[in-house]
Amino acid sequence: MQNRSLVSISDYTKDEYLDILRIAARCECNPNQNILSGKIVGTLFFEPSTRTRLSFETAVQRLGGRVIGFADAGSSSVTKGETLKDTIKMVSNYVDLIIMRHPLEGSARYASEIASVPVVNAGDGANQHPSQTLLDLYSIQKTQGTLENLNIFMIGDLKYGRTVHSLLMALSYFNPTFWFISSDALQIPVEYKMYLRSRGIQFFEYPEFTDILYEADIVYMTRVQKERFSDPIEYEKNKNAYLLNNAMLENTKPNLRVLHPLPRVNEIDTDVDDSPKAYYFTQALNGMYVRQAIIAKALNLTHELN
Ligand code: CP
Repeated sequence: MQNRSLVSISDYTKDEYLDILRIAARCECNPNQNILSGKIVGTLFFEPSTRTRLSFETAVQRLGGRVIGFADAGSSSVTKGETLKDTIKMVSNYVDLIIMRHPLEGSARYASEIASVPVVNAGDGANQHPSQTLLDLYSIQKTQGTLENLNIFMIGDLKYGRTVHSLLMALSYFNPTFWFISSDALQIPVEYKMYLRSRGIQFFEYPEFTDILYEADIVYMTRVQKERFSDPIEYEKNKNAYLLNNAMLENTKPNLRVLHPLPRVNEIDTDVDDSPKAYYFTQALNGMYVRQAIIAKALNLTHELN
């Protein structure tokens, strides 16, 4: 495998998705290894994160590597006016791999063109979140036994939700049927609909989901992305549009699993948490194994994993 960046989910082929899932399964069986001995990974988070940053950092440390970085751009020299270009050039000199989250769409691609080490995109604005997508694929495959021919419900903020954008692109290799449920203001952007049409993928759009939930294999709930709204009144109008509760899961398929990239705000009632169909916390755990696989691949070290 080559030593390379992961900026967009389209940087990987279908075979590479499946390869990552196989490597992640090996990491799940044996998460504590030493392949990163002597390696340092930089985690540059210009936007808040709990899961992505901590699971990447745990992944590095469980593989025997070390981490430097920041969780808040306010503690970096960005506050003094340093450019992203200079920051990336500098950090490239210190580390073997950069993991970066940034609010600007396209910033991860830009960083990967400047950096002398591989860059993994941990989310760039409303654009892409490819490591989340790979852990979503891993979670779907684990719970359904396959990635093929599934009915995937995506509910909530389909406009700004970068995890939705990355995931629909990746799943389009596996002949899904998508059911997009959102308010008019938060519909899936037209370029993603064009992408699906160009690949012959069937999709439906609905304003509500309670009467059609019996069709679902996967329900992918999403948070309304407050930080992406330029108009706070629009956010207030849309913020509580969809709430899944346990009663709604009656008469759904036995294999149905509820996913959410998290954090949740008000999209899934806590009465779902104890349902066997709730999978979002295990999904977040899966992220650690999948990120171990992504790091190993970026550094061309997968052959050293047990
Ligand atoms: N799913 C996700 O990206 O969570 P964080 O924002 O906490 O990293």
